[in-house]
Amino acid sequence: MRLGLFDSGVGGFTVLKKVIELYPNNSFIYLADTARIPYGVKTTHEIIKIAEEISNWFSYQNIDAFLVACNTTNAIALDVIKRNLDVPVFDLIGSVASTIQESRVGVLATPSTVKTKAYTNAILQFKPKTFVIEQPCPEFVPMIELDNINSVEITDVAIRYLQPLLNQKIHSLILGCSHYPLISPLLTEVLPSSIKLIDPADALSFKLKLFMDSKASNYSKRQNLVDLKIYVTSNLKNFPDKAKHWLNVFPEVNLVSLQKKGWVS
Ligand code: DGL
Repeated sequence: MRLGLFDSGVGGFTVLKKVIELYPNNSFIYLADTARIPYGVKTTHEIIKIAEEISNWFSYQNIDAFLVACNTTNAIALDVIKRNLDVPVFDLIGSVASTIQESRVGVLATPSTVKTKAYTNAILQFKPKTFVIEQPCPEFVPMIELDNINSVEITDVAIRYLQPLLNQKIHSLILGCSHYPLISPLLTEVLPSSIKLIDPADALSFKLKLFMDSKASNYSKRQNLVDLKIYVTSNLKNFPDKAKHWLNVFPEVNLVSLQKKGWVS
């Protein structure tokens, strides 16, 4: 099976890593739209255009399933992606919403995701009495991309973002941007241990499992080899190191223009 994933940068690695661990004998295509990072402060119009271009590009990549490893695009333009791809599409927000058990839930997400209230609406569909509070975190993504994740600066930012949620006595905290699981050690450190951290990639991987199991006979076993191709829309030079740092793999990394037409896989 060939699985496609995308994000604005390294955030989707948190989804990719889980999926590679669960299904190592498959092929993976990861697109990082580095030319346009960060997505989380872009307008609805800009994100829809991005979703159109990305899903259009993936429609030429012979994928068997597509994973939306970016919450911002998930919140704003999931319908665009589903319309442009004729393979099963697995998303983070829809996957995790039905699994929430706690009655007071916090969500950390990008400003563009928070504006849509997509997390609140999705959770309330399943548990209408849940109290959900969403916190925009504009400073996290640029810091995480620079690997500035162990500093006093990011700790202070985290404490500032978490305070309104702690004031509301949340029981669990959804990491509603795929970059944020990369700082879960820091978040665990500054949060009371009673608060459960939820990475939506777990729920997505679980949903994907049902699909993968149904196709199990169609894929063959390869040992100790991750078949991963990465594409970036800029900064080709830095990305192999980022992949090595976060995923401990040495994939082929290529530059792609999403505006060009007539791609081949
Ligand atoms: N990691 C993405 C998300 O889950 C995008 C973050 C960004 O580029 O601002 O929202």
